[in-house]
Amino acid sequence: MFQPALPIETPRLVLRPFTLDDLTELHAIHSRADVARFLYWEPRDLEQVRTALIDKAATTELTGEGQALVLAVTLRETGDLIGEVVLFWRSAEHRQGEIGYIFHPGHHGRGYATEATREMLRLGFDGLKLHRIVARCDGRNDASTKVMERLGMRKEAHFVENEMVKGEWTDEIVYAMLRGEF
Ligand SMILES: CC(C)(COP(=O)(O)OP(=O)(O)OC[C@H]1O[C@@H](n2cnc3c(N)ncnc32)[C@H](O)[C@@H]1OP(=O)(O)O)[C@@H](O)C(=O)NCCC(=O)NCCS
Repeated sequence: MFQPALPIETPRLVLRPFTLDDLTELHAIHSRADVARFLYWEPRDLEQVRTALIDKAATTELTGEGQALVLAVTLRETGDLIGEVVLFWRSAEHRQGEIGYIFHPGHHGRGYATEATREMLRLGFDGLKLHRIVARCDGRNDASTKVMERLGMRKEAHFVENEMVKGEWTDEIVYAMLRGEF
């Protein structure tokens, strides 16, 4: 079992578990078409966000593969919710994980996603003792590939039209990092 010490503080951010009080601010992020553009889901209404939030708030520790730890990212100065980061435990046997990130467009372009996601790599490698962590995105999601590169991840694959997402064939890009590379 892995129970991270929370919250996690970085120079500008606080990463903490979600609570049901985050509904309005999370809805302001998940309801946007520009946020959902390269995600697997369409912009969400309040009830869909509530359902997603209940899931996020329920997990504050990882007890087995297949689980995901999602943390709310807030600004240290104001406490505002600006996004979320996730660490998936993909395989216990192979010690594999995956990270992900979603931020409000009003807070893009300041390095917050990179600053927060680095902490999820740290949790994966130092806390969960993973051997390899991947990140994946739509082939057109340049902002996301830049985050992976800023984190020092290696591009491992560009799959061409390997998925049917929102009615169109889409490319998928995979980046990875090994424990020794962190
Ligand atoms: C993917 C996503 C999180 C990237 O957000 P972002 O703000 O571009 O990424 P970062 O927080 O790392 O910020 C980097 C930018 O801030 C700039 N920056 C400013 N101050 C900085 C600092 N102190 N440190 C690092 N970068 C800084 C960088 O130069 C960079 O700008 P550039 O994109 O013009 O090169 C964002 O586009 C998003 O939430 N998209 C919607 C959801 C999504 O698609 N998620 C990914 C699914 S795979």
